[in-house]
Amino acid sequence: LIAGSTALTLTAGLAAAQTVGFSQIGSESGWRAAETTVTRQQAEERGIDLKFSDAQQKQENQIAALRSFIAQGVDAILVAPVVATGWDAVLEEAKEAEIPVVLLDRMVDSDKELYLTAVGSDLVEEGRVAGRWLVDEVAGAECRVVELQGTTGSSPAIDRKKGFEEGIAGADNIEIVRSQTGDFTRARGKEVMESFLQAENGGKDICALYAHNDDMAVGAIQAIKEAGLKPGTDIKVVSIDAVPDIFLAMAAGEANATVELTPNMAGPAFDALAAYWKDGTMPEKFIQTESKLYTQADDPQAVYEQRKDLGY
Ligand code: AHR
Repeated sequence: LIAGSTALTLTAGLAAAQTVGFSQIGSESGWRAAETTVTRQQAEERGIDLKFSDAQQKQENQIAALRSFIAQGVDAILVAPVVATGWDAVLEEAKEAEIPVVLLDRMVDSDKELYLTAVGSDLVEEGRVAGRWLVDEVAGAECRVVELQGTTGSSPAIDRKKGFEEGIAGADNIEIVRSQTGDFTRARGKEVMESFLQAENGGKDICALYAHNDDMAVGAIQAIKEAGLKPGTDIKVVSIDAVPDIFLAMAAGEANATVELTPNMAGPAFDALAAYWKDGTMPEKFIQTESKLYTQADDPQAVYEQRKDLGY
């Protein structure tokens, strides 16, 4: 029997349930809600006691949640960091308390020694995939693009912007003419798209929309329709996440492509934690998930049918 070890918490020959604190950003998108659902399911399947905290999009709430988890002496912390900066102090406190922290789906700019691992996709590559898709799709024709960015200061907003710009680099026919945050929400995506349409000759001067997530794209599609244009035809739509609603839009011909981000970040995170708890095995610093492109060629209606009951 081992006592006082952070890696092993066996008592009287029985494995005690591990307690994990999860600081979630909020529920700004369908993808985010799915990640929460999947994380709860993954914890339940493994007999992990998950303490859930919803930060309502505020970093200060996330920091307070992490401090509360540390005070409770949880066995690990999962955090989906709303923005990339400002985490050093609280991560140092977790390290001091010997509580491993795993980042989910977004990155921070802190020293890598301050967290155990990060599970996520290559966010820059997601943007590149979307950009390259557009280059092929327009095949040399002039294309004025509007961009809906994610939450300002978040790693997906920074990296997906960079990646898209890299993906279209060298294609002189493609130009990003407007770019603004829609905060990853459907409502803001619609509002900002309305202002883009107004500023671009009622939308007639826009060839494509690149949205950093599907929810903003779905909001924008509504705005395009209300402006009397056909999304997917008059304005091409490419976005990221691969949530069921974008496949519905694709099946209706109103969206063209999406890049998948799996909502199952918790599975690989709990696997890494299980190995760490067992014998102190250190995981890779970054556990990467896939970034698959879906287009009209992938039978969007069939994909929608497969995914619609997954709770997102
Ligand atoms: O961090 C991942 C992003 O956050 C997802 O693409 C978006 O939908 C979410 O809210």
